[in-house]
Amino acid sequence: MADAPTALGAPVERREGRDKVTGTARYAAEYPLPGRAHGWPVPAAIGRGAVRAIDARAALDLPGVLAVLTHENAPRLAEPEDPTLAVLQNPRVPHRGWFVALVVAETLEEARAGAAAVRVDYAAEDHDVTLTETHPEAYTPDTANGGYPAHREHGDPEWAFTSAPVRVDVGYRLPPLHNHPMEPHAATASWQGGRLVVHDSSQGATTVRTVLAGLFELPEDRVTVVAEHVGGGFGCKGTPRPHVVLAAMAARETGRPVTVALPRRFLPAVVGHRAPTLHRVRLGAAADGTLAAVLHEVTTHTSRIKEFVEQAATPARVMYAAANILTSHRVVPLDVPSPSWMRAPGEAPGMFALESAMDELAVELGMDPVELRIANEPDAEPDSGRPFSSRHLVECLREGARRFDWAARPAAPRARTAGPLLMGTGVAAATYPVLVSPATATAQALPGGDFVVRINATDIGTGARTVMAQIAAHALGVPVDRVRSEVGSSDLPSAPLAGGSSGTASWGWAVHEACTRLRARLAEGTGPVPDQGIVTNADTAGHADAESAYARHAFGAHFAEVAVDTVTGEVRVSRLLGVYAAGRILNARTARSQFIGGMTMGLGMALTEGSTMDPAFGDFTESDLAAYHVPAHADVRDIEAYWVDEDDPHLNPMGSKGIGEIGIVGTAAAIGNAVHHATGVRFRELPLTPDRVL
Ligand code: MOS
Repeated sequence: MADAPTALGAPVERREGRDKVTGTARYAAEYPLPGRAHGWPVPAAIGRGAVRAIDARAALDLPGVLAVLTHENAPRLAEPEDPTLAVLQNPRVPHRGWFVALVVAETLEEARAGAAAVRVDYAAEDHDVTLTETHPEAYTPDTANGGYPAHREHGDPEWAFTSAPVRVDVGYRLPPLHNHPMEPHAATASWQGGRLVVHDSSQGATTVRTVLAGLFELPEDRVTVVAEHVGGGFGCKGTPRPHVVLAAMAARETGRPVTVALPRRFLPAVVGHRAPTLHRVRLGAAADGTLAAVLHEVTTHTSRIKEFVEQAATPARVMYAAANILTSHRVVPLDVPSPSWMRAPGEAPGMFALESAMDELAVELGMDPVELRIANEPDAEPDSGRPFSSRHLVECLREGARRFDWAARPAAPRARTAGPLLMGTGVAAATYPVLVSPATATAQALPGGDFVVRINATDIGTGARTVMAQIAAHALGVPVDRVRSEVGSSDLPSAPLAGGSSGTASWGWAVHEACTRLRARLAEGTGPVPDQGIVTNADTAGHADAESAYARHAFGAHFAEVAVDTVTGEVRVSRLLGVYAAGRILNARTARSQFIGGMTMGLGMALTEGSTMDPAFGDFTESDLAAYHVPAHADVRDIEAYWVDEDDPHLNPMGSKGIGEIGIVGTAAAIGNAVHHATGVRFRELPLTPDRVL
């Protein structure tokens, strides 16, 4: 075991863990630079329209108020690629909650009081925030989010469905969901002699730097964005959000460092959300369970200023063998906040629908739902025909069934009771694509035998620092405690965001390359390595081959046990178990944490999380954690995550797939299927709150 800490896969402890639990780790709002002021935004109070006039006099008369920025006096920005960043540039109000002013004051409390004193006169227009399948403005876009084609068709799906002996034709409804990371979005900005320096709560500081440089028309080397510690993101910090633009504008206008820390209730309107999805799933099968037709059609919403199409039908292109497959997305532009990425965009809502429908089909067939999935295992990716680089879904299902004691499950629903409780179990599969982007890193040999790797990776709570050191140590052939890793600043070699479950693969590839080169140089032994011993991979930036001959996906299987209270309608999840096939697991401790974190988020999606659009006000009704209920510890009883080892040579030098998102993917469906098994009733709308279940 002497070399255990070096080995990839070892459960190495997080390097910043002590700093976090002792409170010394600093987050973006916690840089009290000398003279630092605070900004508090004013959200629009109408669902659509324009600002007619803003009266800031009362606010400016309050103690401590330094400035009130509005569309009339705020700095002009270059036009952003992302329209949600064009804050205070014109009087339009595209949705309720859009920021129409920013009050800057000496203290947070004075800024908040100032914001309350700003008088805004609006020219309101009628708004429409209600998503329906038959909405007259619904259209089929060219592509869904992620560049996936919106519509794909193989064979003759309608005919194959109609002529199949066993059919399900069902609809599911999923509400908007909010990311709600532990740390709400915050940024501290200062201008230091023509340089813009920003501490931002972001999943990718390199992108924030590029975007801010563009907006303020600066060369990129005059902008530094630091994201040293980030309290979660789940997609809503994946691109720059308005708070960082406001902080930079306010700092320029006042000549002071400015922190804009968004109160949590402002988040839903401005940081993105998982769009609601309406699903129609049709499955047609032979009597032995062989699928002939899979049709998955999704309708979702986007805002009026930005097209974002939750790609919820895409997993049906990957999962099951069928000669006839139709997958399609339609989108309705509404006067709603712009949706964006939330953990496993596409897969999480899409697999809830597909895996619930598979369970309904199993019931129709009188077939075990594990066996139904195994019976439809494809030889190649159904949509593209490409071979899988590796696929061990069947092994995940079998291993999960064994560990869960699935064999003891009564086939019929409503067969187990305990007093007023109905008990049931359910299963669902999971998939998530393997994504990777180019990244650069440096590796340096220090006198005395230590090493340092530098890369602008972001640790959003995942343990990125630690895993980068493990990858470096492995490539260098040294113990992990000889390697320091520096991450979290745009002044470091540029790297993609912590998102799409691609961070570790992308950054790790670059770190591996730089370290492999450094090791080779040192082995040559021809004198000291030039440039202070620093070796870079900047010329290749990782061979991030987006176009592979292989279909590359992680897979998983989820098992859930529930108790449904027939008196209160409450659903409790007594057991959750996931088994994953995600390439080589690089750190057993942090990987388990990611898996069970995803599963916990899936539990919330199933039981408590859901947001409603108020049609009268045009706003989300549940905008803080008092109303939007994320799972607490007491909701998570018994949760286990395991993995099957995969040796996949078609991924990256570490042989890893992403693990940040797959944990959420099938969890809600497994819980919903367990609720059906417990009660004999199929609920097709989430979340499964007592009012629905009773
Ligand atoms: Mo994740 S939704 O790719 O940050």
